[in-house]
Amino acid sequence: MRFLVTAGPTREYIDAVRFISNPSTGRMGLAVVRRTLQAGHDVTLILGPTWLKPPPEAHTLRVTSAREMLDAVSAEYEKCDALVMTAAVCDYEPGAPSNRKIKKGDQPLVLELVRTPDILLEVAPRKGSRINVGFALEVQDSIKHARQKLLSKKLDFIVVNSPAAFGSEAVDGTIITASGEMEELKDITKDDLAARIVGRVERLHASHGRGT
Ligand code: CTP
Repeated sequence: MRFLVTAGPTREYIDAVRFISNPSTGRMGLAVVRRTLQAGHDVTLILGPTWLKPPPEAHTLRVTSAREMLDAVSAEYEKCDALVMTAAVCDYEPGAPSNRKIKKGDQPLVLELVRTPDILLEVAPRKGSRINVGFALEVQDSIKHARQKLLSKKLDFIVVNSPAAFGSEAVDGTIITASGEMEELKDITKDDLAARIVGRVERLHASHGRGT
């Protein structure tokens, strides 16, 4: 199979030296990439800014912003059988970023933030028989919100976890599938979670009547 995996945070620049981002390290996505390689699949990784090193066997494209990640995913999507969006994509970017460094002044600095494109929503109309997997970081009414995301983004399944997952070794979470199944995961390592995700994608792919 051909996997397309996104990982890490995005950075949305305010000026030449400042940006908005989040604490994602890309660990979850890199675990998915290692697992796909172990299972003998082809993988393209679209990686936001992180100090973690991707496996050399993966075809890795580095990006910085949500818009760059969208462009890279759009360009690679046609070629993949499954998209696994582990990236913590910033939902907002500065509306009028400056190329220069903004000088401080006496007045408060007001930043207008505008929505970034939603990558999973953008590719959903081209899904066809591809398998799309998303993540949801939730703090309250987790299952309800994750189900809404699953439906609106046309996902085959979604992995729900909490902000405690950022950079951590192990996570608590739930997998919710489009067919209504729920799998609870307690204190599971990111490597084990990656194996479950890749296993589910392989089974879905096989059930669509496609080989490896
Ligand atoms: N995602 C995306 N494009 C974005 C933002 C997120 O494709 N601009 C993907 C993420 O990679 C993840 C899933 O969508 O797989 C998360 O869904 P989302 O609704 O964006 O979650 P949150 O950002 O947590 O949404 P909210 O803050 O509204 O809960």
